[in-house]
Amino acid sequence: MITLKNDDPEVWRAIQEENERQQNTIDLIASENICSLAVQEAQGSSMTNKYAEGYSGKRWYAGCGNVDAVENLAIERAKQIFGAEHANVQPHAGSQANMAVCFSVLKPGDSILGMDLSHGGHLTHGFKKNFSGMMYEVYHYGVKKETGYIDYDEVRNIAIKTKPKMIIAGASAYPRILDFARFRKIADEVGAYFMADIAHIAGLIAGGVHPNPVPYADFVTTTTHKTLRGPRGGLILCKAKYAKQVDSVVFPGIQGGPFMHIIAAKAVAFKEAMTEEFKQCQRQTVKNARAMAQEFVKRGYTLVSGGTDNHLFLVDLRNKGIAGKEAQVLLETVDIVLNRNTIPFDEKGANEPSGIRIGTPTITSRGMKETEAVKIAECIDRVLLKPNDIMVKDSVKKIVKELCSAFPLYEEAACQTAK
Ligand SMILES: Cc1ncc(COP(=O)(O)O)c(C=O)c1O
Repeated sequence: MITLKNDDPEVWRAIQEENERQQNTIDLIASENICSLAVQEAQGSSMTNKYAEGYSGKRWYAGCGNVDAVENLAIERAKQIFGAEHANVQPHAGSQANMAVCFSVLKPGDSILGMDLSHGGHLTHGFKKNFSGMMYEVYHYGVKKETGYIDYDEVRNIAIKTKPKMIIAGASAYPRILDFARFRKIADEVGAYFMADIAHIAGLIAGGVHPNPVPYADFVTTTTHKTLRGPRGGLILCKAKYAKQVDSVVFPGIQGGPFMHIIAAKAVAFKEAMTEEFKQCQRQTVKNARAMAQEFVKRGYTLVSGGTDNHLFLVDLRNKGIAGKEAQVLLETVDIVLNRNTIPFDEKGANEPSGIRIGTPTITSRGMKETEAVKIAECIDRVLLKPNDIMVKDSVKKIVKELCSAFPLYEEAACQTAK
């Protein structure tokens, strides 16, 4: 980054400081990860200069031969990973992917059925201040109070009662396996489209540690930057019969020129996602989440649904006398970064939620295993138990520092593709 350093030292410095922050903190934000340097190089390449409105072979501007080649690679690789009939790699983000699918088959005023945001769903699944909540009549399903698992009988009952035009499966904070076959069955019973939003679990699916919705869903959307470990972006997979509709909503419907540098980086990430190292890393991500979750249970914490099947879990802090936000702020002072989160049936509401969400993608990409995952859980517990104890905080900070230097972001990482 010599040129940037010379030309714009302020931005260069901020980037250096961000590099250092990432290197020197334990990141437990479930939606974050570390993409490879190869992904970053593609992302930072000259392809950012190219306008390529349209699709490969059918562009508006001249000079698109090279970007066509990378878009074709990205499409073929995405299809191969998930066994999909059609892929659109142009959505700028997960939200745009969801918007494109909605616009391709729904009209304003149609009804959708998605998971309640406060039970783990996403804004684009019908939140009132999101396009999905503004444009559609929204119905929500949630988890069972006693178990924390999705209540599929309730999903079916609501679907029968409300006859949604589309059912959405997928979540930002649900720690259990999603039963896509069951969603398909319910959608068929009421004549609804079925969209699976796998933004959080796409990498786990690519790694074979979560069932794949592609055989069941009409549409599958995802981000490419979470467990999938690619650049920040979106992806749509669908049956061939919806290809034309989806493509024409993405462009010219809701986007202009595609981000060709990002599409190049998606292609790189998709190649990585087919390697054995990547799959191993996804298996380890789940093992780490399980080990950490078990340690929290052992230490007297209540977890939503009692544990996890995937890369994240939710800690209900109500019996610990500390709110989610307080815990988030406190833990950042010892260089552990995570986010506050509502827990299902939270009396406190979204701004002062009672829980925290903990995810293991980033620590696993750094090469950490169960021993480190358990050690981190112990650190969090020690700090939450004695929030004002300087000695405890100092000792935890020291452990975090040791872990961070033993597992660097980009050197000697056990997960080779993170290098
Ligand atoms: C389930 C789910 N869908 C969609 C998105 C939206 O992705 P983006 O932030 O890229 O718009 C997210 C992001 O957190 C998500 O968790």
